Amino acid sequence: MNHMQNTIKTTDVVVIGAGAAGMMCAWQSALRGRSVVLLDHSAKIGAKIKISGGGRCNFTNIYAEPKNYISQNPHFMKSALSQYTQWDFLDIVQQSGIAYHEKTLGQQFCDDTSQQIVDLMVKHCRDSGVVIRPNTKITTVARTRPYNETGSFTITTNNGVFQCDSLVIATGGLSLPKIGATPFGYGVAKQFGLTIVSPEPALVPLTFDADFCKTYSTLRGISADAVVSSNGVSFREWLLFTHRGLSGPSILQISSYMNKGDVLQVNLSPDTDIHTLFAQAKKQTPKRQINTVLSTVLASRLSDTIIGQYTSPHTMVGETSDKILTALSNHVHQWQIVPTGTEGYKVAEVTRGGVNTDHLSSKTMMCKTVQGLFFIGEVVDVTGWLGGYNFQWAWSSGYVAGQNT
Ligand code: FDA
Repeated sequence: MNHMQNTIKTTDVVVIGAGAAGMMCAWQSALRGRSVVLLDHSAKIGAKIKISGGGRCNFTNIYAEPKNYISQNPHFMKSALSQYTQWDFLDIVQQSGIAYHEKTLGQQFCDDTSQQIVDLMVKHCRDSGVVIRPNTKITTVARTRPYNETGSFTITTNNGVFQCDSLVIATGGLSLPKIGATPFGYGVAKQFGLTIVSPEPALVPLTFDADFCKTYSTLRGISADAVVSSNGVSFREWLLFTHRGLSGPSILQISSYMNKGDVLQVNLSPDTDIHTLFAQAKKQTPKRQINTVLSTVLASRLSDTIIGQYTSPHTMVGETSDKILTALSNHVHQWQIVPTGTEGYKVAEVTRGGVNTDHLSSKTMMCKTVQGLFFIGEVVDVTGWLGGYNFQWAWSSGYVAGQNT
């Protein structure tokens, strides 16, 4: 047994998980004069920030509002998002001098590298006195004394035993186990009698059956501007064919709203009405081949693949029956497909579900039944859209807990 294992450190606050939410919470809590220890089992903290946004961290979205989040309680995120907004985080980024730009749809990215956001949060933590302990494996978490007694939680680790008044769980979801994701937070929640909304991979590519792949996998790498819909929700963004199914921003977005067996409807031509396109071509240019007509709107290989399911792509439009032209138009505008699954946690950007918000105060992020125990960030049943919304939730929920630890 080494020296560290015998040490008992008493501190006001222990935050477990040094990701976006944990660092924001630790910093804010320390700013209020609390002594804070931030523990993480990984050697490198902020790993998800580092790899996010293709290495440039899409750190917030200027349009962030509650409707961009999924939760069993669609109101739960309102308080945190209004207590700490995207403009608050943008202020911090601006003050630090990090250069950033808007890519599309309100998404804010670093000009240079996401490491700047990691460094920014680590610096704020260190400057405000947070003690950061990477490489710390948590063995047990327990409530060892009543809440109103100092050091009511005991956290046992390979780096010593910590006692604290406020314990914050910020260990994230299950996505990307290879960079340190674990179900730890759900375990702590269950230990204290909280329920979990079943976790599922979200913002994730969809997979399809062998028949689909036989027809469409040759299109891998081809994209289309599409409206995708399921369960009454629609997104218009790029769709990408992959070797096992579909991906691209529109598919990642809709994946968060889909359950096994749900039908996905795809409109591959949101701006041009294909019925009208064919009707005009039939009248004005009847000798043109159908693929020539359709490929004015779709990538020609995609157009060939769709037409090939009904007739030869080289058939002249004037010689194609109205029945086939209608079937083709319907295929383009109302393509209905049922995914067999997703590419799973190894590629999913986030985990939907998590600690049931019924147990938490939306104003403080503290457990209603366990005084002093907080859950923040992705471990909670709040999932943002693609585009900087998930980091904004991490900053907002972390900030709120930091004011109340
Ligand atoms: P986060 O996962 O960041 O941190 C959890 C921390 O807890 C980690 O440091 C982990 O090591 C630690 N931990 C886990 N288990 C532990 C245990 N048992 N003991 C101790 N420590 C433990 N979002 C966005 O808004 N814009 C973007 O550009 C992107 N891009 C992006 C790319 C990719 C590839 C992924 C996978 C995800 C994104 N996201 C994103 C999502 C975003 O990264 C995510 O929602 C936030 O990082 C969640 O922040 P948290 O602090 O809640 O968890």
